[in-house]
Amino acid sequence: MWILNFLTSSLGKKLIMSLTGLFLIIFLLVHLIGNLQLLFGDNGEAFNVYAKFMTTNPLIKTTSYGLYFFILLHIVQGIVIWLTNKSAKQSRYAVAPKNTSWASSNMATLGIIITVFLAIHLWQFWFKMKIGAIPPVNIGGEEYTNLYAVVHEAYQNIFFVIFYVVSMVVIGLHLSHGFQSAFQSLGLNHKKYTPLIKGMGIAYSILIPLGFAIIPVWMYMMH
Ligand code: HEM
Repeated sequence: MWILNFLTSSLGKKLIMSLTGLFLIIFLLVHLIGNLQLLFGDNGEAFNVYAKFMTTNPLIKTTSYGLYFFILLHIVQGIVIWLTNKSAKQSRYAVAPKNTSWASSNMATLGIIITVFLAIHLWQFWFKMKIGAIPPVNIGGEEYTNLYAVVHEAYQNIFFVIFYVVSMVVIGLHLSHGFQSAFQSLGLNHKKYTPLIKGMGIAYSILIPLGFAIIPVWMYMMH
């Protein structure tokens, strides 16, 4: 089938990486904005109400299934590209690429570390919520899953705080190449727009991980 042939071609693989990557870039922004409610100092009321909405609204629930699929696709395709590049490098005709940043030549390693982070992260919060292992809390006469309490408890442990901060540095490095690379793979190469995209990529890969990292540090310091 032509579509399968295209998707498994090197161009198709890059297209999948960039489209799933862009979706994950948008997810990270939304996830961060939602999570910043953890810092409201209201005992997690706003955050718990928000989390209930995000996990029960049918449209958002459907988008979540797309998210899980895109994460898996991004990981699997990333591994396939990494293995293909590795065997190409062993070929004696391979030419060492010039002008590459440290992050761009270590995307797979960074990606594997992020996958480990994600597995631990999802286990800690998302999975516990999905299996109904989190006790409820009463807010305004209605019952909500007290997700805030679980996050708050996790960030009283200095090891988790360090683990999150270090993971955010890794995510920042992955994004520092991934952001602009996603646009480049889509063919958006332009005298005027390419520097703009590069600038946005740098700002995004610093600000988003920094915003995430502030959450555990702040919650640890405030108790
Ligand atoms: C301090 C940083 C973070 C905190 C406090 C946090 C917190 C949470 C919580 C409480 C949940 C479960 C409730 C929900 O689905 O919204 C969750 C889900 C999730 N988190 Fe995070 N998160 C953080 C950083 C990240 C990062 C950096 C990534 C990606 C690299 C990530 C990826 C996810 C994913 C994929 C889900 C499942 C979302 C869904 O079911 O729709 N999180 N996070």
